[in-house]
Amino acid sequence: MDLNGKTAVLTGAAGGIGSAMAEALAGAGVRLVLVGRNAQALQALAGRLGGQHLTVTADLASDEGRQRVQRCCAALPDGIDILINNAGISAFGSFDAQTPALLTELLTTNLLAPMLLTGQLLALLRQAPRGLIVNVGSAFGAIGYPGFVGYSASKFGLRGFSEALRRELADSSVGVLHLAPRATATAINDARVNALNAALGNRIDSPAVVADALVRQLRSERPRAGIGRPERLFAFLNGLLPGLLDRALARQLPVIRRILAP
Ligand SMILES: NC(=O)c1ccc[n+]([C@@H]2O[C@H](COP(=O)([O-])OP(=O)(O)OC[C@H]3O[C@@H](n4cnc5c(N)ncnc54)[C@H](OP(=O)(O)O)[C@@H]3O)[C@@H](O)[C@H]2O)c1
Repeated sequence: MDLNGKTAVLTGAAGGIGSAMAEALAGAGVRLVLVGRNAQALQALAGRLGGQHLTVTADLASDEGRQRVQRCCAALPDGIDILINNAGISAFGSFDAQTPALLTELLTTNLLAPMLLTGQLLALLRQAPRGLIVNVGSAFGAIGYPGFVGYSASKFGLRGFSEALRRELADSSVGVLHLAPRATATAINDARVNALNAALGNRIDSPAVVADALVRQLRSERPRAGIGRPERLFAFLNGLLPGLLDRALARQLPVIRRILAP
């Protein structure tokens, strides 16, 4: 897709990856509908970007919040071309400690809200000559990871949603892409996750790396993109020979347990 002059809805816009995406997309000539819960942070971002960007303050976990986004997009004279489902939350902790409320919040924010918002905006995306939906997943959407059981489940679900919807819309003007970042330096990762990444020697990207990958993926319309060669290889191996990854992750488990321990 030629991005110049297109309109994109970006959720989680004021977050670490979201704000880097906003800058990269605005630089490519995209007009943005910036969505998040923090009005001040969205206004500050829109001010930094300059240009004709809109902000919508909305909790995407609520019907009311998603309807507000839908109403704003429906009122745009030129409609929307792109939806980027980037908003998300994470939770590191042993499964026994993940309460029903936390698991509900993880699944609602990371899986159900993007599905429902996509459903609410699909008619508008169909009106564009070409519409694109990008779901921002995670390397943990292909590799179930100890300490991230609820998060992994939500991101596996998001990857499944992306794949099924892409195939269902294959005869339409709307494409569905899935982008899987690896560990990235943002506030979603607390001190324990940063300690875990350091202990395991995991590479950590800057948000700008993810934003560049998004812009390249939108331009090429590549259906699936993952960041990091080792992570892509492990995801491939996990699909082919999951027992190999079971054994590799069992060797990491003592380190994970040490950091999980209070
Ligand atoms: N950072 C990583 O290591 C990493 C790795 C792989 C994948 N990812 C994925 O990348 C995406 C962006 O994460 P990030 O690293 O940029 O995290 P972040 O800095 O914490 O940003 C997450 C954003 O999501 C928004 N959000 C959360 N719940 C929401 C809700 N109910 N309604 C509306 N907005 C909501 C937050 O908005 P508020 O401003 O309102 O709080 C925040 O702006 C997520 O989907 C995450 O799973 C991140």
